Amino acid sequence: MSSATARLAAVHGPLSAQTLRADFPGLATTVHGKPLAYLDNAASTQRPRAVMDALTTYEVEMHANVHRGVHARSDRATAAFEGARERTRGWLNALSADEIVFTRGATESINLVARCMDGRMDADSEIVLTGMEHHSNIVPWQQLCERTGAKIRVAPVLDSGALDMAALSGLIGGNTRLVAVTHVSNALGVINPVAEICELARRAGAPILIDGAQAAGHIPLDVQELGCDFYALSGHKMYAPTGIGALYARKPWLDDLPPFLGGGEMILEVRFDGTTYNDPPHKFEAGTPNISGAVGLGAAMDYLAGHGLERLAALEHGLLEYATERLQDEPGLKIIGTASPKSAVVSFVIDGIHPHDLGTVLDHEGVAIRAGHHCAMPLMDRFGVPGTSRASFAFYNTHEEVDRLVAGIGTARKLLGQA
Ligand code: ALA
Repeated sequence: MSSATARLAAVHGPLSAQTLRADFPGLATTVHGKPLAYLDNAASTQRPRAVMDALTTYEVEMHANVHRGVHARSDRATAAFEGARERTRGWLNALSADEIVFTRGATESINLVARCMDGRMDADSEIVLTGMEHHSNIVPWQQLCERTGAKIRVAPVLDSGALDMAALSGLIGGNTRLVAVTHVSNALGVINPVAEICELARRAGAPILIDGAQAAGHIPLDVQELGCDFYALSGHKMYAPTGIGALYARKPWLDDLPPFLGGGEMILEVRFDGTTYNDPPHKFEAGTPNISGAVGLGAAMDYLAGHGLERLAALEHGLLEYATERLQDEPGLKIIGTASPKSAVVSFVIDGIHPHDLGTVLDHEGVAIRAGHHCAMPLMDRFGVPGTSRASFAFYNTHEEVDRLVAGIGTARKLLGQA
């Protein structure tokens, strides 16, 4: 427990999911006449009232365009937007707020880097990925390869769902121009040893991008300590609105890379005989940004920091342990991704029950999970399954909701003729 977390625990006492749930109005609803058990947090988290209130205050008291106005309301909107950038800097412990580019989400953050890397790739270049990447951390690199002739090398995944670190280490070498790896597998929940991977990349002189979509709302982060070049996150997976995310990039990269999109805000001067570009991060933020989304992201970070991310993560870990214990006793059920450490995601298949059928039955019981390939088709192929059922937990979930998931599996067995 960090000293900040110990301080929070001393001041506020232990956290309970029941208390935290009261902050999330979306959880106190029903589905098909049953109380909602929302176990699809890896797809998108619910938002606390603090985020909704921050959005309302912004809309009522501040909204105007940013960086352009000569009026007080625009100044207020600019202060709120740049304040959110500073909070994001703090969340990641980046050196400077200029290293934070607001994007639509992790997908756009990764695409931004991939689109700006053309000049650094040729037919001898290699981009090293892993077999557990989300499509968002595969397709942009495939497109970069199509444009430049670079090649993708893929580090395999072990039967436990852990990354084969020996193989990864063997793949990173003199031709590696980029390593792009997920911090946490969205499909399995396995947490990769990203500090070690950053060290491998550094030794080879290769830049490294970390897809932090599944980590940023659950694991305390320090990009300086990690030593990554790029870190991508999505707001809606950390209790903030959709359509907002961020890219952390070390300042020399943002200075060197060409702009992503062209338009207003990213320029200093435009003439028909040439344009000069704004300084980072604005150079990468063409057009009017998602100002309210950034405000919501900042409010979500304040909410999480207010409770202590480590304390919230401990609740999630308790749910992971309980759900794993309950599910592994189920006949014919196989958990995919048993490696440790894991975030609070349990992905499984059940003999004779298609994940979509299970998802539909559970939905009618009020239990929301995700079923399918989880935008990680190569990983599904690796395990020889078309898809899995995935329960993903947040600190506001309860053990009783895990029990309802297990009971719902029993209902599915009956309905589908297995019991
Ligand atoms: N990437 C999101 C998920 O894993 C949508 O569900």
